Amino acid sequence: MSTNTTIETVLNSMENLSLPVEKQEFTKVPGGYEVFYKGSKWFTGTKPNHDFIPPKDFRFPGNTTAVPINPKGPTEMPQNLTADYTDYRFKHFLAHTTLTKEHPLEEYDHIDCAFRADPEKKALFAAISSKKDLTPSIGTEVHGVQLSLLSDTQKDELALWAAERGVLVFRDQDFVYQSPEFLKEYGSHFGRLHVHSFGSHVKGHPEILSNLRDSNNTVFDNYSAGMLTTTRWHSDMTYEKNPMGTTFLCALEVPETGGDTLYLNSMDAYDKLSDPMKAFLEGLDALHSGQRQAVHGIKTSVYRRDLVDTIHPIIRKHPVTGRKALWFPPEYITGIVGLKNEESDAITAMLYSHLQSSLDFHTRVKWEKDTVVVYDNRMVMHSVVLDYPLGVNEKRHHIRITPQAEKPIPARSG
Ligand SMILES: [Fe+2]
Repeated sequence: MSTNTTIETVLNSMENLSLPVEKQEFTKVPGGYEVFYKGSKWFTGTKPNHDFIPPKDFRFPGNTTAVPINPKGPTEMPQNLTADYTDYRFKHFLAHTTLTKEHPLEEYDHIDCAFRADPEKKALFAAISSKKDLTPSIGTEVHGVQLSLLSDTQKDELALWAAERGVLVFRDQDFVYQSPEFLKEYGSHFGRLHVHSFGSHVKGHPEILSNLRDSNNTVFDNYSAGMLTTTRWHSDMTYEKNPMGTTFLCALEVPETGGDTLYLNSMDAYDKLSDPMKAFLEGLDALHSGQRQAVHGIKTSVYRRDLVDTIHPIIRKHPVTGRKALWFPPEYITGIVGLKNEESDAITAMLYSHLQSSLDFHTRVKWEKDTVVVYDNRMVMHSVVLDYPLGVNEKRHHIRITPQAEKPIPARSG
């Protein structure tokens, strides 16, 4: 199936589901589709026009009108792939998109399991054979324990440890050999499992995100096309009312070299600021927009929920550790509430420079097959590095279990 056929199928299916596709913005042409916004061509077929950058108020068709839930039931489509997956050991984790429409996520009261943890984490530490910090600031590599075998007490301590170190790297895990049901049950210990608005997922299990890049899947490349770098710092889906908490990213297939993930410690990023700047920022909120991610995701996806914009504090506090974090992910923030444009732009530029250039609180995870990284999305930001070419049978494949956490607690709340 060609990529253009996929887009056509998606759009036709949206029409079949009675989703409100606005015809004037999608025009069928021999190569696929032309997409217009306010009279300007955005892209034709699968090729974006980088001379035109959708403005902040851009809204995709189909996300403004309430529609019945699953009017014809969900339809799952496999991701467009060219590599040979006949003997792929993780065929059951291949990426799918679901054509459906659901209510927005309701805010929920999250009680973090780390509240129950022994501060010394004795049960968990007794089970591991070795640990080594990646840097003084962030990240610890752990050996000798299978995450799948942890007791509930040890899971509580794992959540606390992830909040403290930001990133925990576990090698040689059997996580990806477990059933989807097991993984969902496991992840539910840490919070309500997030279902992505348009990200690809494991068939029949939308709570398990499936990120698969092979030589024909260009969605990740589209993210950075026309830019000098593939680096895009973010925390996961910060535009949700309950952004993400203790998160599990599991490597199934990795390239020979490259495709690392960068992480930074937002707590240390906060601590390095001057006291006057801390006080200034603690009084401010920022607008996080789901549209930002969607602008890049439309090439292969449709939306299961209306996209949301949410205001969150710039300095948030972890509910258990009490550490404050500079929570300012460039990928999703569209402005600082209450500031004039020039003020917001200047502060934003300064904070991005601080976050991205200070390697004092960065680390880099080199993936191996069966590596699981546990990270606390409240306290770290991250970015994949798309620095590797892909041959026709090479792939980078991860699954992610993404529990949501509390509505961010403003540091100013005391
Ligand atoms: Fe991410």
